Amino acid sequence: MTKKVAVLVGSLRKGSFTKQIAQNIMDMLPDGFEAQFVEIGNLPLYNQDFDDEGNVPSEYTSFRNTMKEMDAVIFATPEYNRGIPAVLKNALDVGSRPYGENIWENKPAVIISVSPGAISGFGANHQLRQSLVFLNMPVVQQPEAYIGGVTNLLNDEGKVTNEGTLGFFSSIVEAFVELVNKY
Ligand code: FNR
Repeated sequence: MTKKVAVLVGSLRKGSFTKQIAQNIMDMLPDGFEAQFVEIGNLPLYNQDFDDEGNVPSEYTSFRNTMKEMDAVIFATPEYNRGIPAVLKNALDVGSRPYGENIWENKPAVIISVSPGAISGFGANHQLRQSLVFLNMPVVQQPEAYIGGVTNLLNDEGKVTNEGTLGFFSSIVEAFVELVNKY
Protein backbone atom coordinates (compact mmCIF):
# COMPACT_ATOMS: atom_id res chain seq x y z
CA MET A 1 0.00 0.00 0.00
CA THR A 2 1.22 3.49 -0.82
CA LYS A 3 2.70 5.38 2.13
CA LYS A 4 1.46 8.95 2.27
CA VAL A 5 4.07 11.42 3.46
CA ALA A 6 3.28 14.96 4.62
CA VAL A 7 6.04 17.50 4.11
CA LEU A 8 5.86 20.42 6.54
CA VAL A 9 8.13 23.36 5.86
CA GLY A 10 8.94 25.92 8.55
CA SER A 11 9.40 28.76 6.06
CA LEU A 12 6.65 30.65 4.26
CA ARG A 13 9.11 32.53 2.04
CA LYS A 14 8.50 32.16 -1.73
CA GLY A 15 12.13 31.41 -2.47
CA SER A 16 12.66 29.29 0.66
CA PHE A 17 15.91 27.31 0.54
CA THR A 18 14.38 24.90 3.02
CA LYS A 19 11.48 24.15 0.72
CA GLN A 20 13.88 23.58 -2.17
CA ILE A 21 15.89 21.12 -0.09
CA ALA A 22 12.66 19.39 0.94
CA GLN A 23 11.71 19.04 -2.74
CA ASN A 24 15.09 17.43 -3.51
CA ILE A 25 14.51 14.91 -0.70
CA MET A 26 10.92 14.24 -1.84
CA ASP A 27 12.17 13.52 -5.35
CA MET A 28 14.39 10.78 -3.93
CA LEU A 29 11.63 8.80 -2.22
CA PRO A 30 11.19 5.34 -3.70
CA ASP A 31 8.11 3.89 -5.44
CA GLY A 32 5.33 3.26 -2.99
CA PHE A 33 5.89 6.61 -1.25
CA GLU A 34 3.77 9.61 -2.15
CA ALA A 35 4.86 12.94 -0.65
CA GLN A 36 3.03 16.26 -0.62
CA PHE A 37 3.58 19.67 0.94
CA VAL A 38 0.92 20.42 3.56
CA GLU A 39 0.06 24.08 4.05
CA ILE A 40 0.65 25.43 7.57
CA GLY A 41 0.87 29.17 6.91
CA ASN A 42 -2.91 29.60 6.93
CA LEU A 43 -3.46 28.21 10.45
CA PRO A 44 -4.64 30.87 12.93
CA LEU A 45 -2.47 31.01 16.07
CA TYR A 46 -3.54 28.25 18.39
CA ASN A 47 -6.12 29.29 20.96
CA GLN A 48 -7.55 26.57 23.18
CA ASP A 49 -10.88 28.42 23.38
CA PHE A 50 -11.54 27.42 19.76
CA ASP A 51 -11.54 23.75 20.73
CA ASP A 52 -13.16 24.19 24.16
CA GLU A 53 -16.04 26.23 22.77
CA GLY A 54 -16.57 24.18 19.62
CA ASN A 55 -15.66 27.18 17.50
CA VAL A 56 -12.95 25.46 15.49
CA PRO A 57 -11.50 27.39 12.52
CA SER A 58 -12.07 25.54 9.23
CA GLU A 59 -8.30 25.67 8.59
CA TYR A 60 -7.71 23.60 11.76
CA THR A 61 -10.29 21.02 10.73
CA SER A 62 -8.92 20.70 7.25
CA PHE A 63 -5.30 20.46 8.48
CA ARG A 64 -6.18 17.87 11.12
CA ASN A 65 -8.17 15.79 8.61
CA THR A 66 -5.37 15.94 6.04
CA MET A 67 -2.78 14.92 8.62
CA LYS A 68 -4.88 12.02 9.91
CA GLU A 69 -4.62 10.49 6.41
CA MET A 70 -0.82 10.68 6.43
CA ASP A 71 1.44 7.77 7.29
CA ALA A 72 4.59 9.78 7.99
CA VAL A 73 6.02 13.28 8.14
CA ILE A 74 9.08 15.05 6.80
CA PHE A 75 9.82 18.21 8.79
CA ALA A 76 12.08 20.62 6.94
CA THR A 77 12.87 23.72 8.91
CA PRO A 78 15.05 26.77 8.94
CA GLU A 79 16.27 28.10 12.27
CA TYR A 80 14.90 31.37 13.62
CA ASN A 81 16.86 32.79 16.54
CA ARG A 82 18.22 29.37 17.44
CA GLY A 83 14.76 27.82 17.56
CA ILE A 84 11.97 26.70 15.26
CA PRO A 85 9.89 29.26 13.37
CA ALA A 86 6.57 30.05 15.07
CA VAL A 87 4.61 28.80 12.08
CA LEU A 88 5.92 25.28 12.57
CA LYS A 89 5.40 25.25 16.34
CA ASN A 90 1.87 26.51 15.75
CA ALA A 91 1.17 23.62 13.37
CA LEU A 92 2.45 21.15 15.98
CA ASP A 93 0.18 22.71 18.61
CA VAL A 94 -2.89 22.74 16.35
CA GLY A 95 -2.35 19.08 15.47
CA SER A 96 -1.86 18.06 19.09
CA ARG A 97 -5.31 19.13 20.28
CA PRO A 98 -8.10 18.78 21.33
CA TYR A 99 -6.72 16.77 24.23
CA GLY A 100 -6.64 13.07 23.40
CA GLU A 101 -6.76 13.64 19.63
CA ASN A 102 -3.08 14.13 18.90
CA ILE A 103 -2.75 13.62 15.15
CA TRP A 104 1.04 13.18 15.43
CA GLU A 105 0.80 10.09 17.64
CA ASN A 106 2.96 7.24 16.31
CA LYS A 107 3.64 8.84 12.93
CA PRO A 108 7.24 8.22 11.92
CA ALA A 109 9.14 11.37 11.04
CA VAL A 110 12.43 12.83 9.96
CA ILE A 111 13.79 16.27 10.84
CA ILE A 112 15.86 18.20 8.33
CA SER A 113 17.23 21.56 9.41
CA VAL A 114 18.53 23.94 6.78
CA SER A 115 20.58 27.12 7.00
CA PRO A 116 22.90 29.28 4.93
CA GLY A 117 25.14 29.24 8.01
CA ALA A 118 27.63 26.75 9.36
CA ILE A 119 25.70 25.78 12.49
CA SER A 120 23.15 24.27 10.09
CA GLY A 121 20.03 24.87 12.15
CA PHE A 122 21.21 22.67 15.01
CA GLY A 123 19.16 24.65 17.54
CA ALA A 124 15.95 24.36 15.53
CA ASN A 125 16.59 20.69 14.80
CA HIS A 126 16.84 19.83 18.48
CA GLN A 127 14.07 22.11 19.66
CA LEU A 128 11.78 20.37 17.20
CA ARG A 129 13.03 16.98 18.37
CA GLN A 130 12.08 17.96 21.93
CA SER A 131 8.44 18.56 20.97
CA LEU A 132 8.27 15.37 18.91
CA VAL A 133 9.25 13.36 21.99
CA PHE A 134 6.17 14.63 23.80
CA LEU A 135 3.99 14.16 20.71
CA ASN A 136 5.13 10.52 20.64
CA MET A 137 6.55 10.46 17.12
CA PRO A 138 9.26 7.96 16.29
CA VAL A 139 11.97 10.09 14.66
CA VAL A 140 14.95 9.06 12.56
CA GLN A 141 17.94 9.23 14.91
CA GLN A 142 20.75 8.69 12.45
CA PRO A 143 21.81 10.19 10.23
CA GLU A 144 21.07 13.57 11.78
CA ALA A 145 20.17 15.93 8.98
CA TYR A 146 21.82 19.32 9.47
CA ILE A 147 22.07 20.98 6.07
CA GLY A 148 24.40 23.99 6.30
CA GLY A 149 25.80 26.31 3.64
CA VAL A 150 22.61 25.80 1.68
CA THR A 151 23.21 28.65 -0.75
CA ASN A 152 26.20 26.74 -2.11
CA LEU A 153 24.18 23.55 -2.59
CA LEU A 154 21.32 24.70 -4.82
CA ASN A 155 21.62 25.52 -8.52
CA ASP A 156 19.37 28.01 -10.36
CA GLU A 157 16.68 25.35 -10.76
CA GLY A 158 16.68 24.61 -7.03
CA LYS A 159 18.43 21.29 -7.52
CA VAL A 160 21.28 19.79 -5.54
CA THR A 161 23.90 18.36 -7.87
CA ASN A 162 26.88 17.80 -5.59
CA GLU A 163 27.46 14.05 -5.41
CA GLY A 164 28.57 14.00 -1.79
CA THR A 165 25.44 15.87 -0.71
CA LEU A 166 23.20 13.65 -2.83
CA GLY A 167 24.79 10.62 -1.22
CA PHE A 168 24.04 12.08 2.19
CA PHE A 169 20.44 12.79 1.16
CA SER A 170 20.11 9.16 0.02
CA SER A 171 21.18 7.97 3.45
CA ILE A 172 18.57 10.22 5.08
CA VAL A 173 15.86 8.90 2.75
CA GLU A 174 16.95 5.31 3.34
CA ALA A 175 16.75 5.68 7.13
CA PHE A 176 13.36 7.39 6.86
CA VAL A 177 11.94 4.69 4.56
CA GLU A 178 13.20 1.97 6.90
CA LEU A 179 11.55 3.65 9.89
CA VAL A 180 8.25 4.22 8.04
CA ASN A 181 8.14 0.59 6.94
CA LYS A 182 8.33 -0.54 10.55
CA TYR A 183 4.98 1.12 11.30
C1 FNR B 1 17.11 33.87 10.62
N1 FNR B 1 18.22 33.17 10.17
C2 FNR B 1 18.90 32.34 11.03
N2 FNR B 1 19.80 31.41 10.55
C3 FNR B 1 20.41 30.55 11.41
O1 FNR B 1 21.18 29.69 10.98
N3 FNR B 1 20.17 30.62 12.76
C4 FNR B 1 19.31 31.51 13.30
O2 FNR B 1 19.12 31.51 14.50
C5 FNR B 1 18.64 32.42 12.42
N4 FNR B 1 17.74 33.32 12.88
C6 FNR B 1 16.89 33.95 12.02
C7 FNR B 1 15.77 34.64 12.49
C8 FNR B 1 14.87 35.19 11.60
C9 FNR B 1 13.64 35.88 12.14
C10 FNR B 1 15.09 35.10 10.21
C11 FNR B 1 14.09 35.68 9.24
C12 FNR B 1 16.19 34.47 9.73
C13 FNR B 1 18.57 33.20 8.73
C14 FNR B 1 17.87 32.09 7.99
O3 FNR B 1 18.62 30.90 8.12
C15 FNR B 1 17.72 32.46 6.51
O4 FNR B 1 16.91 33.61 6.40
C16 FNR B 1 17.14 31.31 5.71
O5 FNR B 1 17.19 31.65 4.34
C17 FNR B 1 15.71 31.01 6.12
O6 FNR B 1 15.25 29.83 5.50
P1 FNR B 1 14.42 29.84 4.13
O7 FNR B 1 13.31 30.86 4.24
O8 FNR B 1 15.37 30.19 3.02
O9 FNR B 1 13.89 28.47 4.00
